[in-house]
Amino acid sequence: MKISRLFQWGVILASSAPMPLFAVTGIETYQAVCAVCHGPGLNGAPKLGDKAQWAPLIKEPPAQLIGHGYVGVRAMPPKGGKPDLSVSDFANAVVYMVNQSGGKWTEPNEKMLIQINKEIKKREASISSSKKP
Ligand code: HEC
Repeated sequence: MKISRLFQWGVILASSAPMPLFAVTGIETYQAVCAVCHGPGLNGAPKLGDKAQWAPLIKEPPAQLIGHGYVGVRAMPPKGGKPDLSVSDFANAVVYMVNQSGGKWTEPNEKMLIQINKEIKKREASISSSKKP
């Protein structure tokens, strides 16, 4: 192997150090976590590829749709029912479903993730205040 090639790998390893060790893609998370419901449309879950069902959701600001989904919406369980699912893995799975269903979203960058986390905080706060007597 040429030195330049070794150097390239070094850069890749060094720059990927702060990333989670086993980052998964949107499609992987979708298949592992979301497909049970969003494949067949269980309990009214918007079905993958159903443009009519997804159209109104795709009109929402991405940070809002992702943030609300992450906290849970009616029959949609928080984090898709996987308690250790990260915000970015969840977001990538939403982007995957949107893009299979007539939308054209991009996976969130750092700035977008901050927006999503704000939506999550807002949503959690409104839920906990509505539960107070
Ligand atoms: C146990 C079944 C189930 C699983 C698993 C599940 N969902 Fe859902 N999801 C639902 C249902 C049901 C709805 C419709 C909720 C409603 O509108 O009542 C929904 C709605 C949504 C919505 C729209 C929320 C809105 O604001 O209307 C998004 C986005 C979403 N799911 C993303 C995901 C992602 C991403 C995953 C996997 C990480 C996932 N879901 C896993 C059942 C599920």
